[in-house]
Amino acid sequence: MHPKLIALENQFARSILTKVSDLCLDRRQVELWVKRDDLLHPILSGNKWRKLKYILNHALSLGATKVVSMGGAYSNHLHALAYVGQWLGLQTEAFVRGEPQSNPTLNDMEQWGMRLQFVSREDYRNLRQHKHWKSLPGIDTNAYWLPEGGSVELALQGVAELISEIDLQYDVICCPCGTGTTLAGIIEAVRSDVRVIGFSALKGGEFLKLDVEALLTRSRDNWDIITGYHFGGFARTSTELFEFMECFSSQSSIQLEPVYTGKMLYGIYDLLEKGFFKPGQRIIVLHSGGLQGNRGFLAK
Ligand SMILES: Cc1ncc(COP(=O)(O)O)c(C=O)c1O
Repeated sequence: MHPKLIALENQFARSILTKVSDLCLDRRQVELWVKRDDLLHPILSGNKWRKLKYILNHALSLGATKVVSMGGAYSNHLHALAYVGQWLGLQTEAFVRGEPQSNPTLNDMEQWGMRLQFVSREDYRNLRQHKHWKSLPGIDTNAYWLPEGGSVELALQGVAELISEIDLQYDVICCPCGTGTTLAGIIEAVRSDVRVIGFSALKGGEFLKLDVEALLTRSRDNWDIITGYHFGGFARTSTELFEFMECFSSQSSIQLEPVYTGKMLYGIYDLLEKGFFKPGQRIIVLHSGGLQGNRGFLAK
């Protein structure tokens, strides 16, 4: 591991397991524990660090001086990349979907030295086809291309580390899905008798199953993606979702955001009521961070 990455990780807080207790869980005789990757670091929180760690190590080992990536205007991925790029002394550049605009997430990114280029939805879709680190046409020879959401095989290695930190026996582990990379990393790392469940943050998230399969080194049958808790689409919300999040946060003292973790936990509690989880089961839920994105909702 590159010494700068080791030095950075040494500053991180521990991602503990927090047990959630409430009447609903008691009634269903189910245990729920949250793996608190949100606590790792104020900016490199959640699955961001897990996914970026080995990718950045690869980029540094190749002697890259710049990392180029893509994302939406509130992207947690770009936000983390801009921060870590500045910390490591790497230049960063991003293709941002949509019209030129300004918001707290983009302002941070620019302040940390990331060069932003706004692109049309069509151009953005086209960028998605470039998957390999040197596959972006026209990219500088010293630059490293990182696809949307850090969705490459190397990301799985970092995600696997969160699994090795869990020192409890458990039956089910849940995580939110954007590209499905975090889910793939978890599937690869858990024992085959653990059930892994992803919750799609997107409408029409069925396609994610193929993307996850493509990332796995071998076929596994202990996982699934639940696609019914998207609330109308990516980053769409409702009063019901915010009310649920507020109730969960006040009971557990764990803050959520509405794009990923809020929808996942809403889904888990709804499935609990429907008898999806069996009495006696212990569920681990990955808090994948992303709390910086809440600023986008407060501002609206
Ligand atoms: C907070 C948060 N949770 C979950 C995800 C989904 O992760 P993945 O793209 O690996 O499915 C993302 C996006 O990367 C995210 O920002």
